[in-house]
Amino acid sequence: MRMVDLIEKKKEGFVHTQEEIHFIIDGYVHERIPDYQMSAWMMAVCFQGLNKEETAWLTEEMMYSGDILDLSSIQGVKVDKHSTGGVGDKTSLVLGPMVGACHVPVAKMSGRGLGHTGGTLDKLESIPGFQIQITQDDFIKQVNDCHFSIIGQNANLVPADQKMYALRDVTGTVACIPLIASSIMSKKLAAGTDAILLDVKYGDGAFMKTKEDARLLAQTMIDIGTSLGKDTRAVISDMSQPLGNAIGNTLEVKEAIAALNGQSPDDLLELCLQSASYMLLQAHITNSLEKAREMLEEVIKNKKALNIFAQMVKAQGGSEEYIFNPELFEKAKEVIAVKSPREGYIKDLKAKPLGIVSMKLGGGRETKDDCIDYSVGLILNKKIGDFVQIDEPLVYVHTNSGLSEELKTTIINAYTISTKYVEKRKQVDEIV
Ligand code: URA
Repeated sequence: MRMVDLIEKKKEGFVHTQEEIHFIIDGYVHERIPDYQMSAWMMAVCFQGLNKEETAWLTEEMMYSGDILDLSSIQGVKVDKHSTGGVGDKTSLVLGPMVGACHVPVAKMSGRGLGHTGGTLDKLESIPGFQIQITQDDFIKQVNDCHFSIIGQNANLVPADQKMYALRDVTGTVACIPLIASSIMSKKLAAGTDAILLDVKYGDGAFMKTKEDARLLAQTMIDIGTSLGKDTRAVISDMSQPLGNAIGNTLEVKEAIAALNGQSPDDLLELCLQSASYMLLQAHITNSLEKAREMLEEVIKNKKALNIFAQMVKAQGGSEEYIFNPELFEKAKEVIAVKSPREGYIKDLKAKPLGIVSMKLGGGRETKDDCIDYSVGLILNKKIGDFVQIDEPLVYVHTNSGLSEELKTTIINAYTISTKYVEKRKQVDEIV
């Protein structure tokens, strides 16, 4: 077999055999196939696609390119949740403890943020002392003890994806449904979970710009999971505006703590309750969505979920006082209000530019070696459907380096204000 023939084959729209997919992935991981041929093949996939079977074979090849975690010594059905990423997405920090408090083990591996989207690990590291690297034995013990742990991805988990993702990032081949689906699912499957709940986002702040594409990505991942014997379901959720009100590491952790204290913005709470309800069903805790929702509301009310979050933080070396007293978190030097130039209803609120502003304030990474300033970010005072008066704050900017005119203009331009009444948006659109 020759890679050049396989590139030609996909370019012409033909279907690969399982042996061919094996040849490509194994050859690339073991450096028999160079980056330039792999990029050409992935570009051909962007244009010609992969069918269901090719996508499942690709996922399996990627999944077995490195370690497969054995979490069988964790008692109970392990359900992992994966979000396709967005701005202000702190759901794992809220939903993880909620599900854990209902006795479902949540053993989660997360990634760092890059570009305009934040990463769960960076958010957790804003808690002083918190360790994202613990041994596999400690990880398992912790999940058995307190039903919840989030750690950094094992360096040898799906090396094929690590190489392919880095190449896709610089060759314009990220936004391709079979490549995204196999990238996400290979990591979830290698991480040893029993069931997977996907949160597939669409809109300005997400990879998928339309609901139709989000639905297609969700169905592609469900097909992969199902073909490998895992209960896989998805919620399709709106990322046309940021989730919740906080963007930035410490600010998002504080919003997550507030949510666990029963003071969540409505959109964040709704997404967490709906997603977590499905996770309880997948873990066979109940077969009624209404009952699941009641259980989840109860663990917020009786603070069990908050206590599990604090327990996890403590077990991973962090300061649990910060969870019970979030005022201890280091604050940015200044809070600057960006005011509305006109009055009216917020018709549109673009997530991506706001994610970029937070990153430029120091809250995110432009390149993977950048350092993060945890305390900076944005608190949104107005979201879609809200009414704003002239000169009323749209956003509060938490900053250690002032606010340039350019960033201020970016924030104002992220808002579209209409004189006509605008309805608030639904957070979860559908369940697949
Ligand atoms: N997240 C991933 O892990 N992989 C992709 O390809 C896109 C988003």
